[in-house]
Amino acid sequence: GDDVFKYYADGEWKVSNSGKSVPVVNPTTRKIQFLVQACTQEEVNKVMESAKAAQKSWAKTPLWKRAELLHKAAAILKDHKKPIADCLVKEIAKPAKDAASEVVRSGDLVSYCAEEGVRVLGEGKFLVSDSFPGNERTKYCLTSKIPLGVVLAIPPFNYPVNLAVSKIAPALIAGNSIVLKPPTQGAVSALHMVHCFHLAGFPKGVISCVTGKGSEIGDFLTMHPGVNCISFTGGDTGIAISKKAGMIPLQMELGGKDACIILEDADLDLAASSIVKGGFSYSGQRCTAVKVVLVMESVADTLVKKVNEKLAKLTVGPPENDCDITPVVTESSANFIEDLVMDAKKKGATFCQEYKREGNLIWPLLLDNVKQDMRIAWEEPFGPVLPVIRISNAEEGIHHCNASNFGLQGCVFTKDINKAILISDAMETGTVQINSAPARGPDHFPFQGVKDSGIGSQGVTNSINMMTKIKSTVINLP
Ligand code: G3H
Repeated sequence: GDDVFKYYADGEWKVSNSGKSVPVVNPTTRKIQFLVQACTQEEVNKVMESAKAAQKSWAKTPLWKRAELLHKAAAILKDHKKPIADCLVKEIAKPAKDAASEVVRSGDLVSYCAEEGVRVLGEGKFLVSDSFPGNERTKYCLTSKIPLGVVLAIPPFNYPVNLAVSKIAPALIAGNSIVLKPPTQGAVSALHMVHCFHLAGFPKGVISCVTGKGSEIGDFLTMHPGVNCISFTGGDTGIAISKKAGMIPLQMELGGKDACIILEDADLDLAASSIVKGGFSYSGQRCTAVKVVLVMESVADTLVKKVNEKLAKLTVGPPENDCDITPVVTESSANFIEDLVMDAKKKGATFCQEYKREGNLIWPLLLDNVKQDMRIAWEEPFGPVLPVIRISNAEEGIHHCNASNFGLQGCVFTKDINKAILISDAMETGTVQINSAPARGPDHFPFQGVKDSGIGSQGVTNSINMMTKIKSTVINLP
């Protein structure tokens, strides 16, 4: 019907032949907020065909023109901040201000990609043969970066706009076409973002957006022979995708259990505010959230007290009111968080606050004296619940961090920069932050995980490079 949001293919908004739709449930009201098309495999095939055809001429479009279109899309995106942010509030219960800043950050990211792209892709290499033993100076090698083809972008619910454009913009500036499969919760925000690219005037087929059930089109998309690169952010489905995908470059970011190590000499006020911001913003639903605090026993009481004082000030309620803590994305997510809390309770963790839940809304909770046998010491709640483990030396903290199957980011609080560097070197994570909470941004910084946290490196420059391959031409002199 007319109330079902259309999908985007071949430069047009379309209704699926399936006659079916997928509901987007509002996490706050737990009622259906929007409906999106349930695309069929047939429709995916068509999208892939047009993406492939469009890419050929897109790659031949001058780089500066591609950049110009991206700058245009970025400006339109920022103009549409309000309606997109309103969607984010309804679809994923992101606090109103954070929703607005997600859109601005996305516009900035698109512009930055355009600027960086013209530099990174505007240069190649020139090599000569006589540096390698046995060769005369008879071969000149010219290299440049060429696109991969069709890039499949699968962003997660927590940043349906920002983590979509962080894949779309590098792909497009490099001359690839893009097929976007947004998360169901966040799909309408993503469609609205795609509309901004439509308004900017990208050639048809260069960008498409299909919506639908993972069970129907999920594997079909990721295993599709027309896909030349997958950029995925999400949970452990990424591991399954990496096993099924073909011989194509993969960029994956699959969550974390970011450790926050607090040494005796740390600025405890700074540490406490970083823990609250890092652990509880967007109700802990960030892959880079602080997910375990490892604090030296001697300062633990003081730190826990400071964190609790700040937690008491957080507002809890609907995202429309810009509350700090808002309902988590789904009921099953809330149930999962509750299971972790109950397991910790059974095994004797200290509850700094009373556990409280209404529907999908979970009040912020700090669990002190968490022990190694508790699930919450290792698992990622993706909610406003944070465990504290007391340690008697830095090595214990490093050991806990490295025993995790995740390795996204970590952080260490100390005034001793030498110690901080040594701990950073010892932590098996993609990034370590000294005296601040983990975070992906600024978005041109490299962003990567080790172990189950993913493969490849993101960040504007790395993503542009990852979505290209080297082509060389060798001139052979007589
Ligand atoms: O959820 C995963 C995101 O990449 C984290 O981004 O550090 O900006 O919240 P963020």
